[in-house]
Amino acid sequence: MELKKMVGYKAAEFVEDGMVVGLGTGSTAYYMVEAIGKRVKEEGLSIVGVTTSYRTSDHAKELGIPLKDIDEVESIDLTIDGADEISADFQGIKGGGGAHLFEKMVANLSKEVIWIVDDSKLVTKLGAFPLPVEIVKFGAGQLYRLFETKGMNPTFRKDENEGKYLTDSGNFIIDLHLETIEDPRGLAAWLDSLTGVVEHGLFLDCVTKVIVGTNEGPVIKEVNR
Ligand code: A5P
Repeated sequence: MELKKMVGYKAAEFVEDGMVVGLGTGSTAYYMVEAIGKRVKEEGLSIVGVTTSYRTSDHAKELGIPLKDIDEVESIDLTIDGADEISADFQGIKGGGGAHLFEKMVANLSKEVIWIVDDSKLVTKLGAFPLPVEIVKFGAGQLYRLFETKGMNPTFRKDENEGKYLTDSGNFIIDLHLETIEDPRGLAAWLDSLTGVVEHGLFLDCVTKVIVGTNEGPVIKEVNR
């Protein structure tokens, strides 16, 4: 079985009746949504989903998963999402699919967060995957130049027509090609301090369980903080 499908289906087993479930975005999370949809249909599993992108909303609606807006729930029991890189100390980069703003908001409300990845996403240190930074359109060029001056190798994310990619909130994304991030906390704090930055893809101290797809089967890693 494809590794992404393997972990998507494995993660869906952790969903229990009555839960409010955060539904992530991306090609791995796609299978988790598919698997939860099957459980809703075949087992009568009763849950409410909170989605992290319009793409995931459309998919969940097609499958008949009941949904609520993030503002309609007090908290989320469990969020299952993909990731682009996970370091040895379980910090992550997300946003390769451009949905990290909603993903972080949903994760922040969640009691438990499971990331589902294939084993190619596990790294010693973060940074080989370009770090996505969502920014407002106004002054985007100023932030781009600031990142350039700091040697952070920025590129504007492009859409399929080579125009600037727009997030679900209508913002741009700059990807920072850093190669390695020595101090994820310091970098996150600095990015958080910049006016015009909406959200970056460093997800620190966020995940509680990681499910890794390997050729030998899914491996579950509990994260103790
Ligand atoms: C979406 O913006 C991302 O955070 C995804 O969760 C991440 O990019 C993983 O996506 P894949 O499962 O498609 O690799």
